[in-house]
Amino acid sequence: MTGGLGRIIKVSGPAVTAGDMLGCFMSELTRVGDNRLMGEIIRIEGDTAVIQVYEDTLGLSVGGPVERTGELLAVELGPGLIGSIYDGIQRPLPTLADKWGDFIQRGADVKRLDRERKWKFIPAVKPGDRVEWGMVLGTVQETPRVVHKIMTPKGVSGIVETAVEGDFTITDTVVTLEGGRAITMRQKWNVREPRPRLDRIPLTEPLLTGQRVVDTLFPIAEGGAAIIPGGFGSGKTVLEQTIAKYAQADIIIYIGCGERGNEMADTLNQLPKLTDPHTGRPLMERTILIANTSNMPVAAREASIYTGMTIAEYYRDMGYKVTVLADSTSRWAEALREISSRLEEIPGEEGYPTYLASRLGAFYERAGRARLVGRPDETGSVTIIGAVSPPGGDFSEPVTQASLRMASTFWGLDYDLAHQRHFPAINWLISFSLTYPALSAWYAVNVSPDWGAMVKKVHAILQKEEELSEVVKIVGMDSLEDRERIMLEGARLLREGYLRQSAAHPTDAFCSIKRQEKMLSTYLFFVDSMAQAAERGISAETIIRFPGMETLLRLKETPEEDMGAKIESLRNEFNLYVEKAG
Ligand SMILES: Nc1ncnc2c1ncn2[C@@H]1O[C@H](COP(=O)(O)OP(=O)(O)OP(=O)(O)O)[C@@H](O)[C@H]1O
Ligand SMILES: [Mg+2]
Repeated sequence: MTGGLGRIIKVSGPAVTAGDMLGCFMSELTRVGDNRLMGEIIRIEGDTAVIQVYEDTLGLSVGGPVERTGELLAVELGPGLIGSIYDGIQRPLPTLADKWGDFIQRGADVKRLDRERKWKFIPAVKPGDRVEWGMVLGTVQETPRVVHKIMTPKGVSGIVETAVEGDFTITDTVVTLEGGRAITMRQKWNVREPRPRLDRIPLTEPLLTGQRVVDTLFPIAEGGAAIIPGGFGSGKTVLEQTIAKYAQADIIIYIGCGERGNEMADTLNQLPKLTDPHTGRPLMERTILIANTSNMPVAAREASIYTGMTIAEYYRDMGYKVTVLADSTSRWAEALREISSRLEEIPGEEGYPTYLASRLGAFYERAGRARLVGRPDETGSVTIIGAVSPPGGDFSEPVTQASLRMASTFWGLDYDLAHQRHFPAINWLISFSLTYPALSAWYAVNVSPDWGAMVKKVHAILQKEEELSEVVKIVGMDSLEDRERIMLEGARLLREGYLRQSAAHPTDAFCSIKRQEKMLSTYLFFVDSMAQAAERGISAETIIRFPGMETLLRLKETPEEDMGAKIESLRNEFNLYVEKAG
């Protein structure tokens, strides 16, 4: 063996076996073939190693060179991440596209972060201060809304010798320690290793998304994990994108994993143009996109999840609320399956590797709210929302089942709802939020003391509707008592007026929690008032024919400033109508 050089013995799709690899180590970054394709060692036996290659292996031949780098596959961290669009191994996509057209040239060696750009570094330490891993050395205004904290890297500690304010690139020294250690704003972190956190703390606040069915019925906690399983075309991508736009997170990491290129291109084109409804600033000022579409190499898709998570944890460590959106974790699982089969591992259920569940578990495990290494008084969080694409919409398949065990919030998308164009097509009968009880105090204090009771009532009405519609199916509408017909009308108000929400409507796409409270209490007022009218002997037919019903259903389209007046007049109109009828 000369200078860390091995040779190719076998090529099987993304898995390349190399000989003469004595001394190599797991996860070592290698350069394979004459084009120097990027790869990572994933198995070692004697002096042979199996390398997962992150680029198209077409044209690799036996006997070709395998260069060992002695480094781990790492994510580069530092100012300049926000607003970037990366592939699965953190190569900037627009830069690559600029250089080589629309495709990524194989073996392309590009810098993950801009080396020329200067950032204004403001020190947070002074000579004589003692620093340790995780402590903040200084800050950089990365975007108008993100202050990037430059943290002491892992394994570094000592007494500060110099720390000066000034404009620096990410490779310039910003702080020196006694003894000569120079620290830059750029760090590297092994893509396979979760960034540590101190103890996790209980999840007590929701991550508001502006989506009524989510925030009201099935909230996700800040630091929680949710899955969105749904068949073809049921609205997974739109829901992920809507959350990327409106969630009250500080940082959004959007991982487009194995989805169709044109769909991802839509996202890539759309998001950079959008502004944040909360601040009016461009959304990219808090967003990082990682794109590995179905036509890109399968191994890089496998890595994309880890690249995204590492960046998420890095911002968590600055104390931010980070949300990771992954679309779709099924395509990631398929990448695992393909690589596993190339390695000739013993397959588990439906050909997925036997470690599928533990890999998925390890991914969702990384969600959480935690105290931070080096700054135990501060907290940060990572919330994960993963789409799952079960073939044929069958939730009993392995990826959905394994994900289900990890996630505390489950938004099950329903083909029938999507078919009726009821979006988001979250089926309220099968979905759940296990964290709801832990969040109820937050809702009581911040939204309304009655919130819990209101939500309970909504669930009860929808449940009752389900039972009644079974009856109607068998014996017809005429068999129902008036009180039951009124109940069905109430359920319709909740379903169509409240739960249904258009991601495309300028007013309706985002609904603040205050507005949710206003709308929900209005609908429940009508549910009660209709029942009372029926008790006073007014027929269900008359009640249901209330002329304001359509306006009531369209409450969501009413601009905020007209909402109060509109609700007031609808209530009065209904009272008058009932009086007349009675
Ligand atoms: N919240 C929504 N509001 C309005 N329309 C929606 C909404 N969600 C989905 N749709 C409609 O449904 C279509 C399909 O949605 P989407 O692409 O998100 O499905 P998907 O589950 O990601 O599909 P695939 O399985 O192909 O990835 C969208 O193009 C849009 O027309
Ligand atoms: Mg999709």
